[in-house]
This record gives sequence, structure tokens and C-alpha cells, in this order.
Amino acid sequence: MKEKEEIKRICREVIERIRPDEEERRKVKAVTDLIIAKINKKASEMGMEANAISVGSTARNTWISGEADIDIFIMFPVDVPEEDLKEKGLALAKSISDRYEERYASHPYIHAYFYDAEGRTEHEADLVPCFSVKNASALKSAVDRTPFHNEYVRKRIPGLEEEVLLLKQFLKSSGIYGSEQRRKGFSGYLCELLILKYSSFAELLRHASNWKHGERIDIEGRGKYKGEDPLIVIDPVDANRNVAAAVSLDSFCRLIDSARDFLACPDASFFALAKKKEMSRAEFVKRIKERGTELVMVLFEAPDEVEDILFPQLRKAESSIAKLIERNGFMVYRSDVSVEGNKAFLVFELLVWTLPQVKKHVGPPVTSKYHSEQFKSKYKPISFRKRIENGRYVVEVKRNYTDVVELLKNELRSCSLGKHVSESIDRGYEVLRNEELRFFEGLGSFFRDYFCVANSF
Ligand code: UTP
Ligand code: MN
Ligand code: MN
Repeated sequence: MKEKEEIKRICREVIERIRPDEEERRKVKAVTDLIIAKINKKASEMGMEANAISVGSTARNTWISGEADIDIFIMFPVDVPEEDLKEKGLALAKSISDRYEERYASHPYIHAYFYDAEGRTEHEADLVPCFSVKNASALKSAVDRTPFHNEYVRKRIPGLEEEVLLLKQFLKSSGIYGSEQRRKGFSGYLCELLILKYSSFAELLRHASNWKHGERIDIEGRGKYKGEDPLIVIDPVDANRNVAAAVSLDSFCRLIDSARDFLACPDASFFALAKKKEMSRAEFVKRIKERGTELVMVLFEAPDEVEDILFPQLRKAESSIAKLIERNGFMVYRSDVSVEGNKAFLVFELLVWTLPQVKKHVGPPVTSKYHSEQFKSKYKPISFRKRIENGRYVVEVKRNYTDVVELLKNELRSCSLGKHVSESIDRGYEVLRNEELRFFEGLGSFFRDYFCVANSF
């Protein structure tokens, strides 16, 4: 009982901090209306049958104070050719934006900056062209579901907005908010569905603390999804889709773990987002000395690509390089990848990073005459030094690489690295070890997370 009261008290306190106040709500609404009016006016001037709508967290009062991104979808009739949607939709979005950049998710959109009527605060907006399809399973492009998500949530979420805010903040603080490839966590829409399912943040945590792999949530009870993800949340507007498909096993488990910890010892620090301190180079060197491992970094220019394309390539490179390292006799303890600023890198922490010259090469069983002869002729120059172990020939050969950095400097290009990563590596890369690491912007926070340095709140 005491715990329940304590949870309520903390949640009220956090809500006060993260809920947008009246003025912020008014401003966001005014800018949203302004953008929509501009788009619709311009569309009719250009003779286009397009209709802009407000979606996402700002349309549902579920954004965290100070973090509003205004999501506007520009809906085109389904019979508009795909190429036109792309070309005309983007042209329309650009024509009403003062400052913008073109971005790309499942298809291109415009990320623009607008001033409110007083010309003081700047607001960020995503302007996304989509098709106005009949229902969410008849989609022509991946974003066509969004207006249906919006309708579904907008009708049901009133009264539960604060619960969504608590969940978003809790996940942000654990580093698992957002479905992008970098995080593989929980999207805003998924948070809203989880709250609709369990009615409150605390109730969701109570359930989450008992979740099992393959947990299935099906609000409308019509799910047809057959996949085997850690968490399955059937999309209420598309029975074939898992809204939680992007949630990785580790993000799933991190929520379970944080839920248990919070329920056992409720504390406001679970909602903290204070910018955590970067780890210094000296601190890094001290830690790596204590661990006794060798930390090797492959560092190169970040390819000019969106993170959702880049991260899967980096992880693919990570696994193929780890295999190369192990194939050569060294031992990888842990590895990770990231992009910070204009640098992309892979790190390998090694248990074994140097090896002696000698390498045992095991040949065929002596009783297999044909293969024995082949072996002896292949290793003719050294076969006089052959010996027999457990019925097989054994020769000693010279190891190609006795140091892991030499291996990476020479053989990296033989690994399958993914298109953009491989192109960037071809333009040049560095392999650095321990003290050689330069602490560029962002590396300190990467290593703080890597070494799980406790949050200081
Ligand atoms: P957001 O990523 O902005 O999420 O996408 P959100 O729900 O508004 O949450 P916060 O508060 O900003 O973090 C808004 C909507 O637009 C869709 C998403 O599915 C979501 O429903 N969307 C956005 C796309 O489908 N594709 C995009 O490229 C961008
Ligand atoms: Mn948004
Ligand atoms: Mn957005």
C-alpha cells in the first residue's frame, strides 16, 4: 500500500515537469493550424487535390513538454502515381517552408522549421506526403497507416494522456524510447497502445514485470500476425502487423527489468533525463587497464546516409569483422558500433589480441592413405617436421597475423561490410587501440553507456 501511494506521488511530481502547459499547447496548436492552412491553400493554387492533417503526439496531446515535433501528413488521392506523390508532395511541402531539409524514412519527407505568429519560438515539423487509402491494410506506402493510427488513438486516448507521458519519459530515461535502428525501442504509437491496453502507467509496469518472451497483446482480438518477436502488439488498424516489431530482445528485457526495479523502489530518478556526464579519456584508460582487455576501434567517416540504413550495415560489419578476428585465433569479449557526429566506428574488446608465431595445422588421419599423400605433398617443405597426434598428421605453420591490429589494418576489406560502410572504409579508416583513441565529441557518452556507468542524477 505504502508503495502504491509513493508511486502516485512520484508520478504526480514527474507529470508536473513533463506536461506541456496551457501556453505551450496553444502555441503548438496555432503553428499546426498555420502550417495546415498554408499547405491546403498552396495545394489548391497548384491545382492539387491534397489535404493536410495533423497526426502524431501533437495531435493527441501526448508530447513531452519542450519536445514537440509537429507531424503533418499531406494526403493525396490513391490514383496519383507514386512518382507524382514524391515529386509534387515534396515540392508542396518545400514551397511553404522557410527552412527545411529533405529526410528519408520508408519514403522521403520534409523536416521543416517554422516560427509561431509572434515570430519568436521556432517549431520543428515533419511534413510527410502519403496516400489517402480506404483502409490501413490497403496501403500503397508504409506511411499510409498513420492517419488510421491517428484516428484510432485520438478517439480513445483522452483522459489517459498523462499516463502516456509517464511511459515515454520512463523509456527515454532507460534509453529505449524510439523505434529507430539505433535504439530498437518503443515508438510513440506503441506507448499509446500499451496505455490503452492497461489503462495506466503503473498497471502497465505491473504487467511488464511478468512479461515472457513472445508476449502477445491484441486489443481488438483480431490479430493474424504469425511472427516470433519478443513483444507482439497487434496493430488495431491492421491485424497483420506487429507494432512492436522493432523492439529488440534487449530493449524488451530492459523495460521488464526497469519495471521491476521501479515497483520495488519507486524513485523519481527513473524519469531523469539530465544530460549525463561524458566519460573522460583518462577515465576510459583507467577502466580498460583495470579490465585487462584490449579495446580496438575501427574508425572512419560516417557515410552520408540516414541512421536507419547505416546502423544495420554497421552491425553487419561488426559481426563479419568479429568472425575474421576469431578465425585468426584471437578472442572477442564484446563489441559495439555507433555513429557520433560525422564519425562512424566499431569497437572490439578483446580477451586475446596477440598470439605467438607458431600455429598448429591439423591434417588428415594417417589411415586415410590418399589424403595423407595429398597432405604431405602440399606441405612438402615442412612435412619433415610433421608429427602425429591422435592418429592425425600435425604440422606447425607460421601464423599470418600475431597482432589483431595488423590483421584489421590488412584484411578489413575482405569482410562483407554493407554498401555504404564499405565505400566509406575504402576512402580510408584508422585502427586504434586503448590510449591511441582520440576522444572526439560523443565518444565519452558512448563509453559511459558501454561501461554501464551509473547515472548520476
Ligand atoms: P513520430 O516519430 O513523430 O512519433 O511519428 P510520435 O508518435 O509523434 O511521438 P513523439 O512524441 O514525436 O516522439 C509521428 C507519426 O508519424 C508516423 C509514425 O508512425 C507516427 O504515427 N511516421 C512518421 C511515419 O509513419 N513515417 C515517418 O517517416 C514519420
Ligand atoms: Mn511526433
Ligand atoms: Mn515526427
